[in-house]
Amino acid sequence: MITTITLNAAIDKLYRLETFQPGKVNRVSSCAATAGGKGLNVSRAVALLGEPVLATGFCGGHSGAFLKELLSQDQISSSFVPIAGETRTCINLIDGTGTSTELLEPGAPVDEDDLQRFNVHFDALLQETQLTVFSGSLPCGCPEDFYAWLIRCAHNRGVRTILDASGGALAKGIAAKPYLIKPNLEELEVLTGTSIHSKKDAAREAVKLHESGIACVVISLGKEGALLACKEGVFEGTPPDVPVKNTVGCGDSMVAAFAVAIARNYSAEAALQLALSVSSANAMCEKTGFFHLDDLAAILCKGQVNRLG
Ligand SMILES: Nc1ncnc2c1ncn2[C@@H]1O[C@H](COP(=O)(O)OP(=O)(O)OP(=O)(O)O)[C@@H](O)[C@H]1O
Ligand SMILES: [Mg+2]
Repeated sequence: MITTITLNAAIDKLYRLETFQPGKVNRVSSCAATAGGKGLNVSRAVALLGEPVLATGFCGGHSGAFLKELLSQDQISSSFVPIAGETRTCINLIDGTGTSTELLEPGAPVDEDDLQRFNVHFDALLQETQLTVFSGSLPCGCPEDFYAWLIRCAHNRGVRTILDASGGALAKGIAAKPYLIKPNLEELEVLTGTSIHSKKDAAREAVKLHESGIACVVISLGKEGALLACKEGVFEGTPPDVPVKNTVGCGDSMVAAFAVAIARNYSAEAALQLALSVSSANAMCEKTGFFHLDDLAAILCKGQVNRLG
């Protein structure tokens, strides 16, 4: 089973409107709610790919109950640690030109007792877990090295780990040498303190991170595709050309595809090929962290994977 960890889960609301004017009354033409937070996007995509998945993290209040209901509608099993505060709501406004404006609530804080209860819960879940995926930001009150702590717990139980985070959570988390990381360009620049001007620069940084002890380093480059540095070599992936509807969550579906590929022991090239297809299928779909299986079937293996070194 793949276990996803979403410590700062959210109800994601997608509002469509013709024009968005700050400072004015804006009428929304359509509204959809999904269980959000990056780990839950990953869960949805893993489930669509047919692998057993369990979602965990913190959740609380009425919106926490709604979140669990949304997950069960998507046939995703969950086992959250309850907290006193309300699960947050994040809003994505998309206007007629496709421009997106995001409003992200900070989320309810957690305390020492919540973290302790999570540790115990997580350790129990590891007994039935093959691979863990840690995604997204940490809630207020959670130390920046919490991912590193959880990654070490997983490794001590022989469970592989994927970390997809940014800023301090990523910088501190990589100290525990997760099996795979997937920073985008911006996250890579912050992590390495360098300016990346080309794929060559990005590939160089990916190799350095791999040599520091992270088995698989994936750098995602939006519509330009992705790079992978691992023991099998360095690979460049170019996604298929697809009609794009919503690219939010493309990175999460890419992470989901890598999780599934690792669980199925795919080669590096096959894993990157699946990741390009799944993330591009996500871009073709309105719903965040979701794709249609017929879109995936139509573009499967239509991306390009080349060995760079
Ligand atoms: N416009 C696009 N067309 C086709 N594929 C895309 C497009 N945008 C993204 N992708 C695919 O999705 C992958 C991940 O995208 P990106 O680098 O934007 O991730 P991200 O910034 O982590 O996204 P998020 O955090 O919103 O999930 C890319 O490597 C690519 O394969
Ligand atoms: Mg991302």
